Amino acid sequence: MVGFGGYLPNRIVTNDELAARLDTSDDWIRARTGITQRHIAGPNDNAVSMATAAASRALDYAGVPAAAVDAIIVATSTPDQAFPATAVRVQAELGLRGGFGFDIAAACSGFVYALSTADALIRSGQAGRVLVIGSEVYSRILDWSDRGTCVLFGDGAGAVLLTAAEGEGPEGILSTHLHSDGSTGDLLYVDGAIGLRESSGFLRMRGRDVFRHAVAKLSASVDEVLAANGLTYADVSWLVPHQANLRIIEGVARKLELPQERVVITVDRHANTSAASIPLAMNEAVRDGRIRKGDLVLMEALGGGLTWGSALARL
Ligand code: UT7
Repeated sequence: MVGFGGYLPNRIVTNDELAARLDTSDDWIRARTGITQRHIAGPNDNAVSMATAAASRALDYAGVPAAAVDAIIVATSTPDQAFPATAVRVQAELGLRGGFGFDIAAACSGFVYALSTADALIRSGQAGRVLVIGSEVYSRILDWSDRGTCVLFGDGAGAVLLTAAEGEGPEGILSTHLHSDGSTGDLLYVDGAIGLRESSGFLRMRGRDVFRHAVAKLSASVDEVLAANGLTYADVSWLVPHQANLRIIEGVARKLELPQERVVITVDRHANTSAASIPLAMNEAVRDGRIRKGDLVLMEALGGGLTWGSALARL
């Protein structure tokens, strides 16, 4: 992982602002989720524009020209169009005439799915440099009258540039582990899509049930990825989790016996940005010097589907 970039819309919406028009409060939102504010897309922000901004910053960080990128994968559940894929539009925006791009829809687990796919493309020799992006505008699929969901999400994009290493070095993606269970699809879903005639187009969630699944499945996920690599909790330098709820993150950190200072947290300021949350957190912690070369980083996520998974990387 050689490049990191992020983009957050300028407009910040505080809990108090939501409480002024909904039956909720700053106290409830903070206590139940850890969220204090979220960034909300402006009229000129969309999945493509935010993904492009995050990708450009990741390329700048790595000092790699866009023309050297072989593949672009965008994880998003809020694309601007059914097709062309967001990734293909980003390819054009970056001025790239070669390579290929496609989107992945795995809701909040999308970045882990995209990372796994990029790793496989690199290992199989199909691509040498892959941009992995999460870009989401959940503000456009939220029912702003539903206090059970609209207070939880925010907009943004994050990007990571992966590049093939020379030989078998100690750094890079050590392994990724993906899961889904379609029988739990009714716990968290968007009511409708372009292919359906009658639908609200809003996100719906049975929060308490998703919470229960998240704690159990993410716990199993961190055990799975460490066992696959013959590593233990003590080996983990940083937990960079999907940012849905501070209580879920703290639960996984406690299980790993990781102190709070070793967990990258953005949910307080970004809320849940779905597939963008892990790359946004990586970007923040690499750029402010917390995550350094040689660190072992554990990523995990769970989202609609249900989908879930984990990834372990040595920076
Ligand atoms: O990223 C994808 C994965 N998503 C997640 O991981 C989210 C998982 N779920 C959660 O994070 C939590 O379940 C929530 C934050 C969504 C909800 O927290 P909770 O502690 O599970 O609350 P609850 O749903 O059990 O609701 C408790 C009470 C209810 O009132 P009653 O029935 O006890 O009278 C809700 O109606 O809180 C009420 N409530 C609210 N009150 C004030 C629900 N939303 C709000 C609100 N403000 N915004």
